[in-house]
Amino acid sequence: MSKIVILTGAGISAESGLGTFRDENGLWAQHRIEDVATPEGFARNPDLVHAFYNARRQQSSAAQPNAAHMALAQLQAQHPGEVVIITQNVDGLHEKGGASKVWHMHGVLDSALCAACSHRWHAAEDMHRRTLCPSCQRPAARPDIVWFGEMPYDMEQIYAHLAGADLFASIGTSSQVYPAAAFVHEAQAAGAHTVELNLEPSSLVSSFAETRFGPATVIVPQWVNEVIGQP
Ligand code: APR
Repeated sequence: MSKIVILTGAGISAESGLGTFRDENGLWAQHRIEDVATPEGFARNPDLVHAFYNARRQQSSAAQPNAAHMALAQLQAQHPGEVVIITQNVDGLHEKGGASKVWHMHGVLDSALCAACSHRWHAAEDMHRRTLCPSCQRPAARPDIVWFGEMPYDMEQIYAHLAGADLFASIGTSSQVYPAAAFVHEAQAAGAHTVELNLEPSSLVSSFAETRFGPATVIVPQWVNEVIGQP
């Protein structure tokens, strides 16, 4: 039973209308990372950071999964071996598309974290600096997002999955942010076949045994149908 490990990035949600980060007029062309995606930026101006994530949370909750998200859910449902989805994305589109288990290594938009007591709760509506933690009642709510300089979540489990991979696919990521960008090397060391599915070659394209280029809604369903059709 072959184990498949998949890493996704913002490119898989692009055709659902959610912006990527480094494409032309991407999120990092509109906002400075140091202002909205670092602990220092949050300490300096929490209102700006809450506004940035409130806008992304609203956009994400209105977005619909696309054919690529659905295809990965179909692969999880139909492949006889384990299919692990690890995502850098903080939107819930894999789950909306029917995926059963998703590892959100950079956190999720619809979760809130208390900077004082580490309590987590479902953040349905907008958050702001006066939002109280339902556990310790302190106004210390922050987005449950992994910012630059912070440790991504579930890394121990993620490395264990990579160590057991027979097939590793990287979908819709520029492979510019670590540790996710190094997953292809972990999978290779485990003897996995590696494939990059992206709109254009990423910075680590030469690290992959196989590459396929095109919009995720076209190339991911094609790839999934081939994998499902294989023994
Ligand atoms: N189909 C497939 N790939 C696409 C599509 C599409 N329709 N549109 C864009 N892409 C590709 C781009 O070519 C690019 O390589 O998706 C990739 C998006 O790259 P980034 O914008 O850098 O996003 P990502 O790789 O997910 O960023 C990683 O960086 O800022 C941090 O935490 C943030 O999780 C994010 C991490």
